Amino acid sequence: MRSSAISLLFLGILLITCLRAFEIEDNDWAETFDVSDVSESPHVRATRSAEAAKVKRKMIKRKRKRPVNVEESESDKPTSPIVRKVLRRKSDLKPLKVIDAYRNNVTNLAAINQRERDARFFSLFTVVRFNNDECETSTGENGTCYTSSDCSSRGGNADGTCASGFGVCCVFQFECGSTTSDNRTYFVNPPTTQRICNLMINRMNDEICQIRLDFKTFDISDPNAEGKCTTDFFLVTGGSPVPQLCGTNSGQHVIYSITSNSGPTQISMVMDTTITASSSRQWIIRIYQYECSSRVLAPVGCLQYYLTASGMIQSFNYKTDVRANGEPNHLANLNYAICIRVDNGYCGIRYAQPTSDPFSFTLSRDASVAILAFPLPSTGVKYGDADCQSDYILIPGGSEDGISPRFARDRFCGISLGSCMGATPTATTCMAVAGAVTTYSKPFIVQVITDTDEGIPLVDKANRGFRLTYNQQPCLRGR
Ligand SMILES: *[C@@H]1O[C@H](CO)[C@@H](O)[C@H](O)[C@H]1NC(C)=O
Ligand SMILES: *[C@@H]1O[C@H](CO)[C@@H](O)[C@H](O)[C@H]1NC(C)=O
Ligand SMILES: *[C@@H]1O[C@H](CO)[C@@H](O)[C@H](O)[C@H]1NC(C)=O
Repeated sequence: MRSSAISLLFLGILLITCLRAFEIEDNDWAETFDVSDVSESPHVRATRSAEAAKVKRKMIKRKRKRPVNVEESESDKPTSPIVRKVLRRKSDLKPLKVIDAYRNNVTNLAAINQRERDARFFSLFTVVRFNNDECETSTGENGTCYTSSDCSSRGGNADGTCASGFGVCCVFQFECGSTTSDNRTYFVNPPTTQRICNLMINRMNDEICQIRLDFKTFDISDPNAEGKCTTDFFLVTGGSPVPQLCGTNSGQHVIYSITSNSGPTQISMVMDTTITASSSRQWIIRIYQYECSSRVLAPVGCLQYYLTASGMIQSFNYKTDVRANGEPNHLANLNYAICIRVDNGYCGIRYAQPTSDPFSFTLSRDASVAILAFPLPSTGVKYGDADCQSDYILIPGGSEDGISPRFARDRFCGISLGSCMGATPTATTCMAVAGAVTTYSKPFIVQVITDTDEGIPLVDKANRGFRLTYNQQPCLRGR
């Protein structure tokens, strides 16, 4: 009889414990709290110090009013049995303050006491869990939600709170010669230019397949007269190939893959500090790591990956202004793929030059302003294998509308994209904006190919590269 009562009691305690644990788990939190954090949550700590301050102020006031030699009398003690019980327990901790608090505000005391009991209850029976999810810092950067002790031990900076105040929004920012094993790390330029500045990137776990580098800011020297990055360049080692990049690439990104047995990768900024740069040499690169099972993993072979139904793609170091002496903006020696995820309900994609930027496709030939006056000469619009051999983009299955065979070629080059759109079929000049290119061939890929020299005099001149809008097209019958 007695033993069953005990086991009933035991079961009851177990049930309550499970229920409390469930309450917490239900909030979808997934990281074990540090014991130090649990024994006194920030909230409890804050409340307690606020209460203590209040009590202290009141004590000082009362001391001033009271005669100095009056002892604490028996009648000062609380009479209610529950309150006395509470006080006896609290008095083990801080007898004077608690009694004072009781004198001043019974409701307050009960509240503090309940919170402290809750905190202790959690510390004994439950682990507060939360995901190390992405959070936004006060300056709008992408941080990770950690306990404050985890954040500092990982070398991050706490900026704002998350997980209902249980965590801090932890941002990882490194300059030269550092190592990171954390998702959402920022690699930033040092205050003074260094010859070599690199960051070692360790996989945060064994499931990591891909790393995405978002160039929030990317401003280093322009390429030389041949389009080669000789003064400054950005380099990725240890993953799938990433071309050497230079110039201005803010807003662009690159993705590289890693295999399970590859070691750490390294990203480097290499600068010829003896040469004054054409720009201020600044960068802020955000690094995301993706598990092989990620829904946003880029297909193998894609250097860039876009996930939206419409948007903009552009070549590296694309700028609207041309450089002196007809030097190129676009880089030499490229062969990479820009991939666009096929959105639900779409079957085709249409690429076009933005109307606001008529020189937004100048890949080969002379694109200096004198030549590029409108109406465009029809000779500047080039497509097909014979005409596009040095620098071109390849849009598989591309043509005027994606269906008819008109200029159905994969390669596009010259100083304007797509069809000439002449006023008449035999016109030697094109209308102001040349035609778009549409394809229904999937997956959606634009291959970018440039040769070793972008500045052959009289052949390639003032080539800026390309900037194109893309819009996915709804499925047609039979496609
Ligand atoms: C006692 O505390 C409660 C809750 O903090 C507050 O609303 C109330 O005004 C306090 N009363 C006194 C007399 O300080
Ligand atoms: C990063 O932070 C920005 C706001 O600063 C937010 O819009 C974006 O969704 C965050 N996450 C990613 C994956 O970019
Ligand atoms: C890294 O962060 C990105 C952006 O928040 C997220 O989509 C991705 O799943 C994270 N990777 C891992 C392994 O948690």
